[in-house]
Amino acid sequence: MKYTAEKVTISKKNIFDCIVIPIFEKYKFSKISKKINNISNNYILNILKKNNIKGKINQNIILYEIPNFLCNKIIIIGCGFKNKLNREKYKLILNNIVNIVKQYSIKEIIWCLSDLDIDNYQLYWKIRDTIDIFEKNIYLFNKFKKYKSIFSSKIKFIIDNNNKDIYLSAIKHGKAINLGIKKAKDMANLPPNICTPKYLSIKAESLKKKYKNISVKIFDEQYMQKKGMNAYLSVSKGSKNKPFISIIEYYNNKKSQPIVLLGKGITFDSGGISLKPSKNMEEMKYDMCGAASVYGTICSIAELKLPINIIAILAGSENMPSSNAYRPSDIIKTMSGITVEVINTDAEGRLILCDILTYIEKYKPKYVIDIATLTGACVIALGNNISGLMSNNNILSEKIITASLEADDRVWELPINDKKYFDKLKSNIADLVNSSDGIAGTITAACFLSKFTQKYKWAHIDIAGTAWDYINQKAMASGRPVNMLCQFLINQINNHS
Ligand code: BES
Ligand code: ZN
Ligand code: MN
Repeated sequence: MKYTAEKVTISKKNIFDCIVIPIFEKYKFSKISKKINNISNNYILNILKKNNIKGKINQNIILYEIPNFLCNKIIIIGCGFKNKLNREKYKLILNNIVNIVKQYSIKEIIWCLSDLDIDNYQLYWKIRDTIDIFEKNIYLFNKFKKYKSIFSSKIKFIIDNNNKDIYLSAIKHGKAINLGIKKAKDMANLPPNICTPKYLSIKAESLKKKYKNISVKIFDEQYMQKKGMNAYLSVSKGSKNKPFISIIEYYNNKKSQPIVLLGKGITFDSGGISLKPSKNMEEMKYDMCGAASVYGTICSIAELKLPINIIAILAGSENMPSSNAYRPSDIIKTMSGITVEVINTDAEGRLILCDILTYIEKYKPKYVIDIATLTGACVIALGNNISGLMSNNNILSEKIITASLEADDRVWELPINDKKYFDKLKSNIADLVNSSDGIAGTITAACFLSKFTQKYKWAHIDIAGTAWDYINQKAMASGRPVNMLCQFLINQINNHS
């Protein structure tokens, strides 16, 4: 899809292919729809009345050959009551428009919906959301290949007098972020026989050719052994697919400390010796969605050339049962020196993450955010639309919450500051157990990680419920939380209006 911002004055002389205009309940028009209705000598209003299109959300009509107006077609879209419009409804309306645009293969659209006045909903976000919803739908559409050719069209946002900069920055951000979301989805949707830890490392490597601010390091088993990353190494012992850690360094600021983004990249989580039940096990190819979201985010940031430093890490590994596999009751010495008694080999995510959380101390990071499909308990607690957030620093968690609300990529904070949770991690024969009784499973997993993050400000995002669509599109990754992460990073620079 292409997005542009152009100054267009609506008049009798305009020659467009297609224009989208709103109609509100009780036949109320917006400024632009009123103007076009006037040009047509009330033709539009009459047609709406004849067809009983009063302006309800979900109602729409396409008109051709409008008197005095040279535009080929007008899509009139119902927007409900003018004063009840909000972001949620606006997004619903956007989805309706996308369906029309798809159905009629419309190639070029003049967009007149960004100037609607909606409380607490800035122009910038109306444009961002428009791009998000088009891209999201077009992705599914093209992925399922219902039509032979890849669908693409052009949206021209109409600029009014002095808001050109807002349009341009929203379009720039929207395009780059959706590119990252697409990259994350493409990576996550691959089957685990193709998307292996090695594959993740190849994708990471490829970024250094594409972006001049990026350099990449790949850690193999040997190097991890040298560093004492025994927890990381344990998880893949049962797998023929070797583990790889991909470290993508993006430097575009001489002064600032780097922000570390760390993504869990278990390319398949069978559970290992603590084998998972076979029902829905195929979904565990998505256990690398954290890594995919970090990959997508760094692509977006590099596209935007944000003046910031980021260390983006893909923690690639595969959890399989075998005679070589690590077992319940193994004791592992992590890179930090903390020892862990393995109770359940299915609690593997925290084992790969903990060694990297130690390794990254060397960067003296400003913030560290890990993103992981860490616990089934998070799906029970928060469901499929809100990710879990846990942090050892209030300022950082507030910034994440702000970004998540702005980008409408929601998170909810869970507490980790209670000793009783930590008590559950006690082992008789090691410093920690890797899994406990299952109570507050999302929190205890984060508490485990927090033992390795004492030296910096850290937040953990559990995307077990949000990384892919469990219900509607069983076979699709969501690309979350790329949008939130990008927004968090953009807010670091604070260069949007
Ligand atoms: N990758 C899973 C978590 C998961 C489960 C994500 C279902 C999405 C949907 C993780 O490695 C895991 O197996 N966690 C265990 C932890 C337990 C053994 C302490 C879980 O949630 O059951
Ligand atoms: Zn897992
Ligand atoms: Mn697991």
